[in-house]
Amino acid sequence: MPDRARVRQLAAEHISRGDPLGWFDALYQEAKHGDAAIPWADMEPNPRLIAFWDAHPLETSGKRALVVGSGFGDDAEQLAAWGFQTTGFDISKTAIEDVKKRFPKTRVDYVVGDLFGPPSQWRRGFDFVLEIYTVQSFPPGLQPKAIEAIAQLVAPGGELLVIARGREEGEPLTEGPPWPLTRKEMSSFQRAGLKEESFEDYAEPEPPWVRRFRALYVRP
Ligand SMILES: C[S@@+](CC[C@H](N)C(=O)[O-])C[C@H]1O[C@@H](n2cnc3c(N)ncnc32)[C@H](O)[C@@H]1O
Repeated sequence: MPDRARVRQLAAEHISRGDPLGWFDALYQEAKHGDAAIPWADMEPNPRLIAFWDAHPLETSGKRALVVGSGFGDDAEQLAAWGFQTTGFDISKTAIEDVKKRFPKTRVDYVVGDLFGPPSQWRRGFDFVLEIYTVQSFPPGLQPKAIEAIAQLVAPGGELLVIARGREEGEPLTEGPPWPLTRKEMSSFQRAGLKEESFEDYAEPEPPWVRRFRALYVRP
């Protein structure tokens, strides 16, 4: 079965049971046993993060960064290499076990954690928060809550970089995951108290010309 088809099947099964988060660990487990592939696992830092950094390097000395849904860890490792004191968290226990094996000497603090119930000390606790593709992997009804939860992790004066698939207002959603966001849905980050610093809406330069948003927010 193609990778996306298996992901959608697993997600649909869990969502129909009222468990919209259970499929992530189930997928990582299947991947571990060679029964499925993880479509977002490129095993390298996201090139859209690298391009952002080339144009917009941030001060990292003494700064804390948090990676939401850190998966196999390439983006968290990159933030640590740039100098952040970095935490990566993921709801999948299997992903966290795997990332610790993959980077045994890592300086990143990898923890199992749920965005919808983070430790209280994380509230407004990070100078840089990175969110790539997690919000779009939640059913649309859960996305506003996810956006609110992510915004609450950003410290005063801190920044949040979001990379997500985009779709036009009114464009019908097809079967997900992913469930791409509209510009208006992205503006929930501002309703959660953040200020938009930049917003890019672009199509990838190569087929299948996926539309993506890359947005930077700051907590005033
Ligand atoms: C679509 S993947 C993206 C992974 C990674 N950010 C990337 O770009 O490759 C979403 C990740 O978020 C994790 N995740 C899903 N729900 C979560 C939650 N409530 N709290 C923390 N992590 C979650 C999943 O296990 C998965 O690793």
